[in-house]
Order: sequence, then structure tokens, then C-alpha cells
Amino acid sequence: MKSLTVVKFGGSLTKNLKAQDKFLKELAGISRRRRFILVHGGGLEINAMLEKFSVASKFVNGLRYTDADTLSVVELALSGKVNRVLTTGLIKNGANAVGISGKDGKSVICKQVKELGFVGEPVKVNKKLAEVLLEAGFLPVIASIAQDAKGDVMNINADTLASSIASAFKAEKLIFLTDVPGVFDKNKKTIKEIKIGAVGALIKSEVITGGMIPKIKGCVSSVKKGVKEVWIADGASGIKNVKGTVIKR
Ligand SMILES: Nc1ncnc2c1ncn2[C@@H]1O[C@H](COP(=O)(O)OP(=O)(O)OP(=O)(O)O)[C@@H](O)[C@H]1O
Ligand SMILES: [Mg+2]
Repeated sequence: MKSLTVVKFGGSLTKNLKAQDKFLKELAGISRRRRFILVHGGGLEINAMLEKFSVASKFVNGLRYTDADTLSVVELALSGKVNRVLTTGLIKNGANAVGISGKDGKSVICKQVKELGFVGEPVKVNKKLAEVLLEAGFLPVIASIAQDAKGDVMNINADTLASSIASAFKAEKLIFLTDVPGVFDKNKKTIKEIKIGAVGALIKSEVITGGMIPKIKGCVSSVKKGVKEVWIADGASGIKNVKGTVIKR
């Protein structure tokens, strides 16, 4: 298969409409010449919808517990809203985008992380559907929802999902676009390059926290599995002139 770039668009960027529009325009333009899979999260939209539907969240060690009501809202926010908005914007800008989730075509099979309720970790990526779409010139846009082997629906961390997909496809490039200009050091200065061996210490010393943890872990995993170029990058700069932190072996 021709070279492929996997881009994860952070849900954190949905608040920045200027960055979002610029990104969709850019991606729509280059997706006509090169292959992309777009994976997205939707943290902000999930929070907003939970509030709108008055679904109270329970937290376990600072992480949201996803019960059945929460899961319905999570899926609505990811597949019903963020996925639609991104796919619509890409089509508007001339791309052949197709919005799916990890459920479709059993693209991603996950395993439940029981402590967190209906939350799963990807255990298998079935490339078939995305390959068929790419071969036919479509741009797959994948929401971070999947089913487990029994068919139960789970919320998946979108960073972990993007990394699993990039690894399964042996993608040339994996870019995490987010709401910060890369990974900050302890003085809030963007680190230009991080070697995978240095990641453990950055997490242990709490320089890397919260939503940056699954992202950097996804980077390490994909670098180890042979993805050549891996970035945590500034969503406002986009994908043509990627600016941020490069993660290397
Ligand atoms: N060392 C660090 N450098 C930069 N950001 C960090 C660091 N440690 C923690 N963060 C936090 O990580 C956040 C990015 O992750 P977050 O999960 O919030 O966004 P996202 O992954 O882009 O969106 P979503 O999860 O909705 O897809 C930053 O806004 C910042 O608050
Ligand atoms: Mg995140």
C-alpha cells in the first residue's frame, strides 16, 4: 500500500474554530494526493453534552466512569456530532470523506477496562474497511468508539486508537494535533525532540500529566512498532507545516 499518514484531531481543538477550519481545508487539499486516516476525540463536546442532558459523572482516580447513560451521550457526542462536523467540513472543502467509528466493519475490537465501566482498549485492528475506502479514494474519519468481542460498545481513548491504527497500517507518519504547541518541559517550553527512553521519567516527574499521557504513550508504542515519523503538534499550525514535538527512538 502507498504511504499513509494517520492524524489524530484532538477534541480539545473543537473550541478553536479557526484552527479547525484551517485544518479541514488543509487536509481536504492534500488528501486528494496522499492517503490519510483521520481519528478524532471529543472531550469538550462530551462534557458539554453530558451537562446538556444532565448526566452526572462519577470519577475513579480522576478518570470518568462510563456507565450506560454516559456511554449513550459519549457516542452521541463522538459519532453524532464531532464526526459529522469534521466529515461535513472535509466534504465541503472537496475531500471524499467518510465518517465511521471503530465499530464499523469491526475495524477495531477492544477489551473492556472494567474499573472504568464501558471503556475499552483496542486489542485488534481489522484494516479491511479502511483499506477498501483508501483504495477507492475515500478519506476515513474514525470516531473513538468500538465494540468488544461480545459486541458490547465501549469508549476508547482516541490517542490510543490513533496509535493502534497507525501501528497496524505501518503508517509513515502519525500526527497528534492538540491545543498546545507540543510537549512542554517543566518550564512550559516546548520540547523539540523526545527520545522514547526519556518518556517514563517525564511522566514520573509529572512534567507530562492528564491528557498528554495517553498521547505520549501512543507515540512510544507507534515508534516501537515502526511508524517512522511521530509528532505531538500544534493544532493551530496544522499538518503541512507541522510544529511541535517529534518523538524518536
Ligand atoms: N507536558 C505537557 N505539555 C503539554 N501539555 C500537557 C503536558 N502535560 C499535560 N498536558 C495537557 O494535555 C492537554 C492535551 O490533552 P487533551 O486530552 O486535553 O487534549 P486532546 O487529546 O487534544 O483532546 P481530546 O482528548 O478531546 O481528543 C493540554 O491541553 C495540557 O493541558
Ligand atoms: Mg485527549
